[in-house]
Amino acid sequence: MRLVVTGGAGFIGSNFVRHVLATHPDDRVVNLDRLTYAGNPANLADVERDARYSFVKGDICDGALVRDVIRDADAVVNFAACSHVDRSLVEPDEFLRTDIFGVHTLLEAVRELKVPRFVQISTDEVYGSVERGSSRETDPLRPTNPYSASKAGGDHLALAYWSTYRVPSLITRSSNNFGPYQYPEKVIPLFITNALEDRPLPLYGDGRNVRDWLYVLDNCAAIDLVLRKGKDGEVYNIGGGHEVENIVLTREILRLTRKPETLIQPVKDRPGHDRRYAVDSRKVHQLGWAPKHPFGRALEATVDWYREHAAWWTPLKSGELRTWYEQQYGAHSGRGETP
Ligand code: NAD
Ligand code: DAU
Repeated sequence: MRLVVTGGAGFIGSNFVRHVLATHPDDRVVNLDRLTYAGNPANLADVERDARYSFVKGDICDGALVRDVIRDADAVVNFAACSHVDRSLVEPDEFLRTDIFGVHTLLEAVRELKVPRFVQISTDEVYGSVERGSSRETDPLRPTNPYSASKAGGDHLALAYWSTYRVPSLITRSSNNFGPYQYPEKVIPLFITNALEDRPLPLYGDGRNVRDWLYVLDNCAAIDLVLRKGKDGEVYNIGGGHEVENIVLTREILRLTRKPETLIQPVKDRPGHDRRYAVDSRKVHQLGWAPKHPFGRALEATVDWYREHAAWWTPLKSGELRTWYEQQYGAHSGRGETP
């Protein structure tokens, strides 16, 4: 298969590229990525010289470039997105541009060039907060922040292009991912690296919000299955099946890093903070997927990875991320201190 992966220099995309090259020896992968703050060529340094892999720096909103890159593709898998909720609260424009207009640009190119398959990587956040039970793929979308609203826009477009033009779109909606190469703004890598640096762990609100954690390699396997075996025009939820309150997760990270609970620092809640996400994953299970990495062991492996890869995350935390936090919370807040 000739695959174009967009956003392949980010967290999930880079793990997916590595997964495809390792499990499908005849596949070729072109990675189109704009290299925003979250895109890091170091995430794929180990496959850089693989003759089956190539990289193009560019924007999914650039229609001419997108057409050039996807011309002979058998499938396009779109991971490219602005992905961090907190950033969407202060700079929503870029989220709308990439997560809606970028998807539209890809869909138009796929339609014109008749690419046989388009997989849109979406999120459980599009269903909004779920107090009880779990979201089915047919449930209405109720996004509550600019990130999830823009992702919902992308989803609606992908399904509309299937209904209207028979563009062969499929959508995956996964729960919260964690694992190696996740930018240290998201809660698990932020808390692990803060703990390793003996800095406070800023826990939002009452710490009782619930997320369903999915190890990134399990998500990659599910996406790969949907890509090869999924049905056009269908949506597939991918849940980790491991719901945890943030406070419990935080204590577990401190236990694994052997740091004291006095590092927990309650801070102001995120505006519009969704209480809980939960998806019903029966459909992707019926396709033949099940997560293989138990949460406890995967979290331990993730802590070990960050411990052993300080050279990967230290420049990110002292560079772009620090500047961003200083702009939001003031020059001396650092982050890890109360915003
Ligand atoms: P990430 O922020 O780590 O990576 C995003 C990548 O997209 C980066 O490499 C960035 O450079 C690239 N990018 C951004 N804008 C671009 C543009 N206009 N053109 C080309 N490239 C661009 O994100 P992630 O956590 O790996 O998430 C990947 C996808 O999975 C996103 O669509 C996200 O919505 C979805 N998702 C993420 C999670 C999670 O827990 N991280 C869970 C469910 C769904
Ligand atoms: O549910 C899937 C989504 O998961 C993805 O679509 C998003 O791309 C991804 O960023 C993630 O969104 P969340 O908002 O759930 O992830 P985040 O890591 O930002 O936060 C997880 C929980 O931890 C959430 O309840 C907020 C809380 N939190 C987060 C940060 C960054 C804190 O308490 N303190 C923090 O500093």
